[in-house]
Amino acid sequence: MSDLVITKNIHEKDSFKIENYLKHDGYKASARVCTTLTPDQVIDEVKKSNLRGRGGAGFPTGMKWSFMPKDSSKTKYLVCNADEGEPGTFKDRLIITRNPHAMIEGMIIASYAIGAHVGYVYIRGEFFREARMLEFAISEARANGHLGKNLYGTQHSFDIYVYRGAGAYICGEETALLNSLEGKRGEPRLKPPFPAQVGAFGMPSCVNNVETFAAVPYIITEGAQKFAAMGTEKSGGTRLYGVSGHIERPGVYELPLTISIRELINHCGGVRGGKKLKAVIPGGASAPMLSAEDIDVKMDFDSLMKAGSMAGSGGVIVIDETVCIVEMACILLKFYEHESCGQCSQCREGSHWLAQLFQRIENGGGTMADLDTIASLCGNMAGQTICAFADAVTGPALSSVRKFRAEFEQHIHQKCCPFKKDHKHIGHKASSVQGVPGVTHV
Ligand SMILES: Cc1cc2nc3c(=O)[nH]c(=O)nc-3n(C[C@H](O)[C@H](O)[C@H](O)COP(=O)(O)O)c2cc1C
Repeated sequence: MSDLVITKNIHEKDSFKIENYLKHDGYKASARVCTTLTPDQVIDEVKKSNLRGRGGAGFPTGMKWSFMPKDSSKTKYLVCNADEGEPGTFKDRLIITRNPHAMIEGMIIASYAIGAHVGYVYIRGEFFREARMLEFAISEARANGHLGKNLYGTQHSFDIYVYRGAGAYICGEETALLNSLEGKRGEPRLKPPFPAQVGAFGMPSCVNNVETFAAVPYIITEGAQKFAAMGTEKSGGTRLYGVSGHIERPGVYELPLTISIRELINHCGGVRGGKKLKAVIPGGASAPMLSAEDIDVKMDFDSLMKAGSMAGSGGVIVIDETVCIVEMACILLKFYEHESCGQCSQCREGSHWLAQLFQRIENGGGTMADLDTIASLCGNMAGQTICAFADAVTGPALSSVRKFRAEFEQHIHQKCCPFKKDHKHIGHKASSVQGVPGVTHV
C-alpha cells in the first residue's frame, strides 16, 4: 500500500492550521528548495516523479514548468486552478479546507522553479467558505515568513492572492480562467500562444490544479523515485478520487493510480443497497461512461484512455441499475448547454441541439435517425473548437449511446421512457423539437 501524499494528517484536529502543518515538517521542502537547489534541479525532480496534472488533462507537470521562458525579463505568474466546476468533482475543496498549506507550499516550490513572484489562486465563486479558509491559510504562511520578500533569506520573493470567480464552469478552462482573472469575459483563448508564452496580463504564466501543487512538497521531501514508484510507468503518485452516486460510502479517497474501478467501488463499500452496477463515469461528467463490464480497468490516465474514457478530474460517479441512462445523459447535456460560453458556433449550437435531441428521446418522441444525428453532431464538435469544452460535451453524449444503445432504442420503439413508473406513451407531440436544422455533416 502506498503512502498518503496529501491526506495523511487531514483527520487531525485543526489540520488546516499552520501549526499542525509545521508539526509534520511542513514548509521544510520549500525552505530546502529555495536555499539549496537550482530551479532546474527542482524541475528535474518533478519530471522524474512522473507527476501529471490533476485538473483533467493529465499533462506532465515538470514538463509544463520547463516550458516557462528562462531568460525572459518579463514578469511571470503562477496560477492555481481552484475552480473545480466539473460535475462529480469535489476533491480540491477538501485540500483547501483540510490541508491548504500543502497547496501553498507546492506553489512556493513551483514559483521558485519557474521564477514567478506573484501567484493567484482562482477559486470558484460558490466556494465562499473555502476562499475564506484559503485567505486565512495564506495570511498564516505570510506571518510565518513562508510568503513575502526574500524567502528563507534568499533572493526569491513570492506572494499569493486569492481571486474569486463567479461560478461559470468554463472558467476552469485555463485560458478562460486567465481572461476572467484579468476582469474580462471568461472565454477561452485561441492557442497558440500557450499560457507559458502569453498568459495572465500578457505575461508568461503557468496554471496548475490544486491537487497538483499539493503533491509537490511530498516529492521534494520523500524523493521523486518514491512518488513515481507509487504509480504506473508514466504516471506517479496517488490520486484523490471523489466517489459519488450510488455508492455505500461516498467521499474523497486517496488511493493508488493503479487501483481498478472495481477495487475502488469495493473500497467504498460497494454499490448502494447491494444493487447491480450499471455504469461508471470515472473522471468527472466529461469522461465517457463505462459499463459494468468495463470496471476491471485501472484508474490511471493511460489505462482509462485505452478503455475509451479518461481519468479527468478524478470524480467517479457510480450509477446503479435503477437509473435511466437516457435521462441521466439528458441532465448532463442540459448542464453543458447552459455552460457553453457560446464563442464557437459548433459548441454553442451543438450542445443546444444535443440537449434537445436527448430530451426528445427521453420524452418518447425520438427516432432512430436521431441516433445518427447525435453521432454526426458530436463529430462536428470534438476537436473543432477553441477549447476542449465541446469535446467534453461529446463524452456523455457519445458514450451513453455507444454503451447503452439498446436502452435508447427501447425509448424510441416504445415511445416512452421504460424507467418511468406509469410507462406513459408520450409520442412525438410531447417533444418541443420538431426536427434539428443545420446539424448535418459539414
Ligand atoms: C471546460 C473545462 C473545464 C475545466 N475545469 C477545470 C477545473 O475546474 N479545475 C482544473 O484544475 N482544471 C480544469 N480544467 C483543465 C484546465 O484547463 C488545465 O488543464 C488545468 O488547470 C491544468 O492544471 P494541471 O496541469 O495541474 O492539471 C478544465 C478544462 C476544460 C476544458
